[in-house]
Amino acid sequence: MVVVANRRLDRTASLTAQLNAAQRAAESLRPPDRRLIDDPYSRHFVAHPALRAMLAHPRLADAALRGIDRLWGGLHAHIMLRVRYADDALDGAIRDGIDQVVLLGTGFDTTSLRHGTTGVRVFEVDAPTTQAHKWLVTQRLLSTRRDCEISWVPCDFEHRVLRECLIGSGYDPSRPTLIIWLGVTPYLTSGAISATLADLAEICAPGSRLVVDYIRAGVVAGHTSWKSAGRVARMVARRGEPYRSDFTEAGLDALLTDHLFQPREHLTVEGLLNRYDPARRSRLSDDSWLAVATADRM
Ligand SMILES: C[S@@+](CC[C@H](N)C(=O)[O-])C[C@H]1O[C@@H](n2cnc3c(N)ncnc32)[C@H](O)[C@@H]1O
Repeated sequence: MVVVANRRLDRTASLTAQLNAAQRAAESLRPPDRRLIDDPYSRHFVAHPALRAMLAHPRLADAALRGIDRLWGGLHAHIMLRVRYADDALDGAIRDGIDQVVLLGTGFDTTSLRHGTTGVRVFEVDAPTTQAHKWLVTQRLLSTRRDCEISWVPCDFEHRVLRECLIGSGYDPSRPTLIIWLGVTPYLTSGAISATLADLAEICAPGSRLVVDYIRAGVVAGHTSWKSAGRVARMVARRGEPYRSDFTEAGLDALLTDHLFQPREHLTVEGLLNRYDPARRSRLSDDSWLAVATADRM
């Protein structure tokens, strides 16, 4: 057990989710003109002593993030860029009248806290153990925030029916929805990914939008020219969260189309970097991409 902010947390929460939270917190310590995001909440979800140590000083945080990008082929850049993209997708969805958001495999994602999405209902879906930690810390943070409507949906994508979990939590299938599914598909079996998409196809009204990231074909089997991808795969496997699924662009498009989603675009880390921070230098391995799709069926 470790003690975080007077809360006792055990070690059953996803470590990769904690790593992502630590990365967002560390990025936020960079000077305003050098950071991709400003997230004052993520640090509250970091319990692991090594990750907390990295946040002790901005210079330490910066050095750690450079190390992550060097060793793991731009992994940090990818994590920050997907947050930036999802933030823009959320702003765009709200502007277009979408008022229902589902975060799949939320981990310690702070979207609900950062956006204070008044009038928008956010469904946070995650494995029960990780969500229990998220809930505990969020209750404390929410005591100073009243503008955030979160529905907590514990659901293991491998064993539960997402559709039932969401509907049981008050999700309205007649309203268009923004689905954000980041940092999760690599850890799921192909069966769980297909089942999740099949459920979404049933409950996403026309006009719904999906933002999902994925690792590219070859990483799981170790057949990739990027050595850093193999290092990341070994690192997550050692921590009990092995990679299970990867995709070609065409393979993911076919899967999305089979489940009534219209693929719209695929975004590389390099493309996102050019969009959000052209001056940033990262050694990119190009193994993690983002895909965007819409539910267009009538
Ligand atoms: C790398 S973290 C990403 C967390 C968050 N989306 C982010 O971007 O910070 C992976 C997340 O996937 C969730 N996850 C993995 N397998 C899952 C499963 N079978 N059912 C539900 N959630 C799962 C973990 O609990 C964890 O929160």
